[in-house]
Amino acid sequence: MLEAQEIIWIQNHKTILKNIDFHLLPGECVGLIGPNGSGKSSLLKILAFLEPPTSGQLYFQGQAVPKSVPLTIRRKIAIVFQESLLLNTGVFNNVAMGLKIRGLPKERIREKVDYWLEQFGVIHLSKQSARSLSGGEAQRVSLARAFAIEPDVLFLDEPFSALDAPTKEGLRIDLAKVFKSTQATTVLVSHDFKDIAHLTNRALILLNGEVVAQGPPSELLKNSHKEEVDRFLAHFSS
Ligand SMILES: Nc1ncnc2c1ncn2[C@@H]1O[C@H](COP(=O)(O)OP(=O)(O)O)[C@@H](O)[C@H]1O
Ligand SMILES: [Mg+2]
Repeated sequence: MLEAQEIIWIQNHKTILKNIDFHLLPGECVGLIGPNGSGKSSLLKILAFLEPPTSGQLYFQGQAVPKSVPLTIRRKIAIVFQESLLLNTGVFNNVAMGLKIRGLPKERIREKVDYWLEQFGVIHLSKQSARSLSGGEAQRVSLARAFAIEPDVLFLDEPFSALDAPTKEGLRIDLAKVFKSTQATTVLVSHDFKDIAHLTNRALILLNGEVVAQGPPSELLKNSHKEEVDRFLAHFSS
């Protein structure tokens, strides 16, 4: 579905990503984990075509992705960030927007918006303004908006990290259910191993812009790695 070969990203003479190879198969949820500043968001931005890499090549659905990424490809992906970027309008409109842009008929839009608001447990907020939502509700609406366009690849950059612990736990459980039923092809970024363990089949550990280990989350915790990787993982083994 998505592949990256030898990605290097340099900004202001600083090498932020070093020689990263990545692939994502249809139906897979792959995690990117690492401490703050390790390059997770940078890699996600490159994989989601928000930033061009300094060197290296991206492939999307088997085709090399050109430097200037066409709208036809951009429209096949959806991104959810840590802070929900909802528009200052109603909840319904926020979820409907992407479907309107894609030219869906009004009836289909209503069905889909209602369906996804329901899946994320926020259908009762449909008529409310996005401004009036709590952090957890806003993130649920953001996820509904992303799933509604049925993207070929979904990117989630720390979607729970601005939430308090119980809110986060609830959303993680609901998201896991949605993953199970949709098999959405997803890249999930988190600095919390618990998110990765619950939601992904495979994860890459980033440290200082490099992939230092990868595998199924349970294996990552079991295996021993370079000292600095083990030091990072030690926070999560109990
Ligand atoms: N546009 C940019 N210009 C310069 N430095 C950047 C830019 N984006 C990220 N960085 C730097 O790259 C490093 C990795 O950042 P980031 O990808 O946001 O890490 P993470 O998401 O893992 O916390 C940090 O040192 C950050 O300051
Ligand atoms: Mg980040």
